Amino acid sequence: MNARLSRRRFIKGVIASSIAAASTSAWYSVAQADRPQGAVERLLTINVNGKKRRVDVLPQETLAHTLRYKLGLTGTKLGCNRGECGCCTVLVDDITHYSCSMLTHSVRGRSVTTVEGVQAPNGDLHPVQQAFVDELGPQCGYCTPGQVMAAVALLKVNPKPTRDEARIAMSGNLCRCGAYDHYLNAVMRASGQRT
Ligand code: FES
Ligand code: FES
Repeated sequence: MNARLSRRRFIKGVIASSIAAASTSAWYSVAQADRPQGAVERLLTINVNGKKRRVDVLPQETLAHTLRYKLGLTGTKLGCNRGECGCCTVLVDDITHYSCSMLTHSVRGRSVTTVEGVQAPNGDLHPVQQAFVDELGPQCGYCTPGQVMAAVALLKVNPKPTRDEARIAMSGNLCRCGAYDHYLNAVMRASGQRT
């Protein structure tokens, strides 16, 4: 198979649903071990990707933890787990947030969108996702879901950003592979300013 085509297929898989962490159960075990003694879960209803989800949540539980380990939405990645890298970025009421740094209790009554929620109901990729594929944006792909969410949020409020505006809007998302220019090319393509 053509190497470029094969890489494009890999990237499409990364962008569409994001690769589930192979170590999900190991992470979950660690998280359970960290559970404070006497902490009691409370049943919450939260709105995620347009659906009401009922889930038992600890008082200090982060949204990233709930999404990944209780709702199975592993497209949201955990990197630094302390508000520095952006790979856990989701939208809350259409504004980007680091889900590792917000409590799940704080999103009651608000609308959460993860990378699994941006594609069309028929499975078509969001224009940002398609542009990331077309520009061969990701390298390893780990930061990609956060980059997608940052770009989606930007284009909602600024459909035709300049490259510098896009750079600033995406600056909260680090990429250890250094694929920044690819991502910026993709944002410009998704906004119709690059063909
Ligand atoms: S994992 Fe949330 S900012 Fe790094
Ligand atoms: S593509 Fe590897 S961290 Fe960004």
